[in-house]
Amino acid sequence: MISGIGDENILLYVSDLKKYFPITTGRLMGTKGYVKALDGVTFTLREGESLGIVGETGCGKTTLGRTILDLIQATDGNVYFNLPKEEMLRIMELENKESTLREEGKTDEDPELLKVLKELAPLRREFSTTKMSGRKLSKLRRYMQPVFQDPFSSLDPRKIVRSIIGEPMKVLLKMKVEEIIAKELEIIEEIGLSEDHLYRFPHEFSGGQRQRIGIARAISIEPKLLILDEPTSALDVSVQAQILNILRDLQNRRGLSYLFISHHLNVIRMMSDRVGVMYLGKMVELADTEELFTDMLHPYTKALLSAIPIPDPETKINRIVLEGEIPNPSDPPKGCHFHPRCPVAMKTCGWSPVNLSNPLAAMLDPVRNQEAKDIVGIQEIIVDEDKNYLQILFAPESPVSESNLQLVKDLIEKESLLKGGVVFEAIKDVFIESESNSLIITMVDPETPKLKEVRKGHFVSCLLYDYNYFDQETSGSEQVAEELISDKG
Ligand SMILES: Nc1ncnc2c1ncn2[C@@H]1O[C@H](COP(=O)(O)OP(=O)(O)OP(=O)(O)O)[C@@H](O)[C@H]1O
Ligand code: SF4
Ligand SMILES: [Mg+2]
Repeated sequence: MISGIGDENILLYVSDLKKYFPITTGRLMGTKGYVKALDGVTFTLREGESLGIVGETGCGKTTLGRTILDLIQATDGNVYFNLPKEEMLRIMELENKESTLREEGKTDEDPELLKVLKELAPLRREFSTTKMSGRKLSKLRRYMQPVFQDPFSSLDPRKIVRSIIGEPMKVLLKMKVEEIIAKELEIIEEIGLSEDHLYRFPHEFSGGQRQRIGIARAISIEPKLLILDEPTSALDVSVQAQILNILRDLQNRRGLSYLFISHHLNVIRMMSDRVGVMYLGKMVELADTEELFTDMLHPYTKALLSAIPIPDPETKINRIVLEGEIPNPSDPPKGCHFHPRCPVAMKTCGWSPVNLSNPLAAMLDPVRNQEAKDIVGIQEIIVDEDKNYLQILFAPESPVSESNLQLVKDLIEKESLLKGGVVFEAIKDVFIESESNSLIITMVDPETPKLKEVRKGHFVSCLLYDYNYFDQETSGSEQVAEELISDKG
C-alpha cells in the first residue's frame, strides 16, 4: 500500500505486482509449484526521479524490470505508466482503499470492496499495462526502454551503429531521413562517441563503448523511463564511472526517470534519489537514498549495508553477518520471509513446527543434553505443519507423566533464554494428550509484515515497525521498535 501521496507527478505506479514462474517436471510437464520471483511489489516513481533497486542475487530485481517492461507477463497486479495526473491519483486512491479493506479481512463480496473493484475494473483495463490491449501497450512501450547488463548480446551484430540507433526512429517515430541523420549525430555525441563511430559494427567496440551504444539506442525514441538492469556490472571499474556519468548527464538534460537495478551498493547510492530493498520477491524497505544509507530500519537492510567495504581501515563498523542460505523462493519461509536469518527475529515472525523440530530433538537428546536424561521413553517427534504443532510421542511402556511435562517446560524455558532461542519463545503451550500418550507443543501463529510508511516517505516491512506513520494512536512505536532491537542485538 502506498500512503501519503502528495501531488508529485507520478510517472510509474507499480501495484501489488506478482510474477510466479511455474516449476514443471516430467514428460507431462505437470506444475509442481511456483518460484515466487515477485510476490506483491508496490512502489511509485516520480517524473525525473531515479529509483534504485537493490538486493541479493535471486531476489527478483531483473524479474521486476522485465515484468514492468512486459517482456515477461505478470501473474497478477498492475503497472500504471504515463497516465494523466488525475486518473493516476484516483487509481492510487482506489487501490489504497482496496488494500486497506483486504487487510481488514474483507472479501470480494463485501459491498464496500465491491464498489471499489467496480470502479477500478474499467480503469485497470484502460490504464494498467498488465490488462490493456496489445495495441495500446505497444504504443506506450516506446516511452519505457531497457538498458541491459550485457550490451553485446542486445545489439544486432549485422547492423552498423547508424542502423541500430536510427531504425527505431524510422519505424516507431516515422521520422524523415534528414531528421534521423541529424538526431543520430546529436545522440552519438551526447553519449561521448563521434560521427565515424556511426559506421562501425558492434564487434569493433570495447565493452564500455557498446554500453554507450545500448544507451544511445534506448534514448533514440525519446523515452520517459529507462529501466537499467546492472548497466555497469560487466564493465571494468574505470569504465563504470564513465557510463554512470553519462547516465547522470542524460538524466539532467532530458529529465528522464530511471529504475536503476544493481547489487552494487555504492553505485546505487550514487545513482538513486530513493532506494528500494528487495528480499525474496518482496520490497522490504523503501526510502530516500541518504536516509536509507544512514538510518535504515529493516534488519535485512542493516545487514546488507553493513557489508559495504569502507576505504578507511581505522573506521569501526558493526558488521552483521547473515547466517544461513538465501531460502528457496519456491518454498519461502512462513511469516516474514527473512525470519530464519534475522538477528532480531521475534516469536511471531514466522516460526513453524519444522523450524522447531531439530532444535527440540537436540534439546531432548540425553547424549547432547545431560539435563534431558530424566525424560525417558520418547519414541518419536511428529511435526504437523497444518495444525501448527509438534507431538512428542512416548513409548507404550512409558506413560507420559506430569513430571515429563514439567521437565520439558523447564528445558524449553532455558533454551528460549539462550542466543538463538527465539524458536523456543514461539511455543505457545505444552500439554499432555493422554489418549495418544504424547506431549503436544503448540506454536504461536505467524504474522506476515506488510510494507508500511513508518516515517514520512520511509516504508518498511517488518513486524518491529508494525504501525503507520499517519496513525496518531501508535506514535512512539518507533522508540519501542528501537528498544526491542537493542535488547536482541
Ligand atoms: N524464466 C524463469 N523461469 C523460472 N524461474 C526464473 C526465471 N527467471 C528468474 N527466475 C527465478 O526467479 C527468481 C528471481 O530471479 P531474478 O533474475 O529476477 O533475480 P535478480 O535479483 O535479478 O538476481 P541477480 O542479482 O542474480 O541478477 C530466482 O529464483 C530465479 O531463479
Ligand atoms: S518481521 Fe522484522 S524482526 Fe521479524 S524476522 Fe522479519 S525483519 Fe526480523
Ligand atoms: Mg538480475
